[in-house]
Amino acid sequence: MISKSMEKALNQQIALEGYASYLYLSMASWCENEGLEGCAQFLYRQSDEERAHMLRIFRYINEVDGHALSPGIKEPAHTFKSVRDLFEQVYTHEQKVTRSIHELVSQSYEEKDHTTLNFLQWYINEQREEEALMRTILDKIKLIGDTPQSLYFIDMELDKINQMTAQAEGGEGERPYDNYPFLIKNKRMKSQLATVALILILTNSLISQEQDSISANDIEPPLRLELTIDGKTYTLKDGDEIKLKGVAANPTVSVRSAAFRQFQFESVYFEYPTHFAYTYEEDFGYRIWSLDGSDFIILMFVYDVPVVLDELVDEMVAQFGEENCTITPFERKLGEIPCAGKRIEVSLIGQSLNYEILDIPYPDDKKRILAFQDIRDETGNSSSESTLTMQQINTSFKLIK
Ligand code: FEO
Repeated sequence: MISKSMEKALNQQIALEGYASYLYLSMASWCENEGLEGCAQFLYRQSDEERAHMLRIFRYINEVDGHALSPGIKEPAHTFKSVRDLFEQVYTHEQKVTRSIHELVSQSYEEKDHTTLNFLQWYINEQREEEALMRTILDKIKLIGDTPQSLYFIDMELDKINQMTAQAEGGEGERPYDNYPFLIKNKRMKSQLATVALILILTNSLISQEQDSISANDIEPPLRLELTIDGKTYTLKDGDEIKLKGVAANPTVSVRSAAFRQFQFESVYFEYPTHFAYTYEEDFGYRIWSLDGSDFIILMFVYDVPVVLDELVDEMVAQFGEENCTITPFERKLGEIPCAGKRIEVSLIGQSLNYEILDIPYPDDKKRILAFQDIRDETGNSSSESTLTMQQINTSFKLIK
């Protein structure tokens, strides 16, 4: 038999889980109305899970001779500012549930109620997993943004979780998220993971990875400065010194940042616009650089494992849906180097994306792939950012032995 105070606290927990179920149901409905089928299905499922959490406590109270009370549920919100706002609310609510479970655990300690303490262990694990999942989804939304184009990708990712959940339910009963790429912590399946990484990054995503230490690759190529003295321009890096010959009387000096930075990693050199954001990711078997502009993204992948470009392209097309893609063989000369690859044109929800994926030939066992992602305007034209960037890459590209 449990104490009256424990019975009351557990009944409060029932109300909290019940509210979560109704809140997620309301969120599912909003997503469905917004055409976000993957998010909607995910939230319908979460709503069912919360009801199951509620019932589990309900049954427990009666089993230990208490009286479980069907809670009055406060009406949840029916509209949300954005998908990000919605998942922030989910995460906040999950944190609140976790705190409440921990308080119940403390109370059962104080009351020496070992039966309830034992019962609550399941909830502690459940909350840890749910919080981790929601936090990961939220981090991803923050990274991707929730523009209409990004929403499509977010929805696809949620759909992926739904499919894994369905598989797990019909399979060996493992946690549905155990195989979800964001949460992969072990290092098996190197080449598949590398493939998934390519797909995710190409869809404006980032896998959260634990990096052991900062490497030289983590450091963004330095900003270069153009120093002009009496009409003569010198390009300098941070820390550079120049010695001027002669004496200049009353010189006119100006300084501005150079328009391009120098990318030089894994024997590949090219210049890219100074304002592009630099990101580096690595895991066993591969390294990925991402240089992000407003409409144009440059990605370089270096694999230590055997990767076939066509297989990567097939994976990517499968992600976008074959019916949305046009694939053509493609060649481009970068600097003096002829590179072969594939062009994928993707049409999605009124957006047109153009990918060029090129094999960079180099005489070693590594595989270097350079990919360009360009968002086209309504008339199918490239952005000016894309045109300027490609011009600079085309002229500056070289392989360094
Ligand atoms: Fe049962 Fe997600 O709280």
